[in-house]
Amino acid sequence: MGGDLSVVCVAYPIGRRKTFTTHEISRRVRGETTLVAKAETQKHKMVVTPPGPKARELLGKDADVISASVVRWYPLVAESGTGCFVKDVDGNEFIDFNSGLVVLAVGHSHPRVVKAIKDQAEKLIHYSWTDFYYKPIIDLAEQLTKITPGSFAKKAFFCNSGAEADEAAMKMTRWHTRKPLFLAYTGSFHGRSFGALALTASKPVQRRHFFPLLPQVTHVPYPYCYRCPFGLTYPKCNLWCVDFIEEEVLKKYHPPEDTAAMFIEPVQGEGGYVVPPDDYFQHLKKMLDKYDILMVDDEIQSGMGRTGKWFAIEHWGVTPEIVTIAKALASGLPLGATVAKEELMDWEAGSHANTFGGNPVACAAALQVIGIIREEKLMENATRQGAYLTKRLKEMQQKYPIIGDVRGKGLMVGAEFVKDPETKEPAPKEIQEIMNKCFKRGLAIITSGMSTMRFAPPLIITREIIDEGLEIFEGAVKEVAAQLR
Ligand SMILES: Cc1ncc(COP(=O)(O)O)c(C=O)c1O
Repeated sequence: MGGDLSVVCVAYPIGRRKTFTTHEISRRVRGETTLVAKAETQKHKMVVTPPGPKARELLGKDADVISASVVRWYPLVAESGTGCFVKDVDGNEFIDFNSGLVVLAVGHSHPRVVKAIKDQAEKLIHYSWTDFYYKPIIDLAEQLTKITPGSFAKKAFFCNSGAEADEAAMKMTRWHTRKPLFLAYTGSFHGRSFGALALTASKPVQRRHFFPLLPQVTHVPYPYCYRCPFGLTYPKCNLWCVDFIEEEVLKKYHPPEDTAAMFIEPVQGEGGYVVPPDDYFQHLKKMLDKYDILMVDDEIQSGMGRTGKWFAIEHWGVTPEIVTIAKALASGLPLGATVAKEELMDWEAGSHANTFGGNPVACAAALQVIGIIREEKLMENATRQGAYLTKRLKEMQQKYPIIGDVRGKGLMVGAEFVKDPETKEPAPKEIQEIMNKCFKRGLAIITSGMSTMRFAPPLIITREIIDEGLEIFEGAVKEVAAQLR
């Protein structure tokens, strides 16, 4: 995707459906033969109000055989995906502002990823990495140790999911430091396996009836300036939320010399796409260093270029000792990684392992993802399109007081909905209605936190697709806002 996609689109207006894709166009323009993502000139298309008949039939079967523990946002029964679009079983084509669940950074079924998966599957699908050796996992570890922050030597541990990547970080930091305690944030999400769940503090339903969890985790408030838990205002607050950890937690009941690590999300994902103030993480890291507490940077949602940098923490020039990665890493194949300073990976052989982690097919896909992000300049695109998306949402905020706050980094953008901008009372019912209207009209988008709409489209998105999605979104906001008056 090298150049500015919007320029390419001007030359071939999107009205000419399916004539050329922007990627095909850019390939023709540059005379390249490399595989490129497709469908950027596609538009959404609704052939039947969803869920259509085929979807309804599958929903009935799903209810009979799928665990009741999962929550579905709306009845989108996906059949195929291309670029920034997902098609349901009845032929409706939705603009995908979800990227699956913040996984499809390089878009649906990027041809290079598909080819790498096919090629690797023909060669070697499995040969347990914790028992033997193979090249794709070594190549990927090399790449990940290079792109994660910090110029020091690093090593990687592989697994299958985000929760497992955080579990590995918990066990590794405990093993290395021989300290039992952890710090994490209220509102955080780190996964649902028992260790990760002890860190997670996003919604009561995630923990209800599952106690006892690991008891050694203390949660402290996230720097959520729009709803400061201390009722203070930045910058007058002098970042009391960091001093609070030191003065009220570490000095009173959570001894720092017993604390292995603090788990952070640089932009809180499930908690509502919350972005901390600019000097927050520098202040926090300094305090953690003072007490020899390691920083585990959970980049599972914010990493792999989503915010315009490989990892979101880089926006603040802070270097964590450990980074956890999953979701977008292998473009939909299950893969998680815990990348740490070399000396922290000194746990003894046999102390932590798994069968499927770093599967060769997933590693082959991940190597392509890294190459695509770099070569198609997707971080630059995330920065450029994210700025445009944020500007458009801020303009809408001026028109609709139901939008209380707009915040984000790159293409990780949240718009928080409130009943009243003065009281900031959350608007969960209203945001649900907006989300459902968007779905019926061809935009797949979901919420996070109490009532924040999350915008996390594939990083290949163009301005034209953003505009098309925002047209649907604004229509829904306008209708729901009018009911509030
Ligand atoms: C920040 C963060 N950490 C960890 C996880 C858990 O990842 P997984 O669902 O792959 O276990 C998620 C999932 O949403 C996440 O957003």
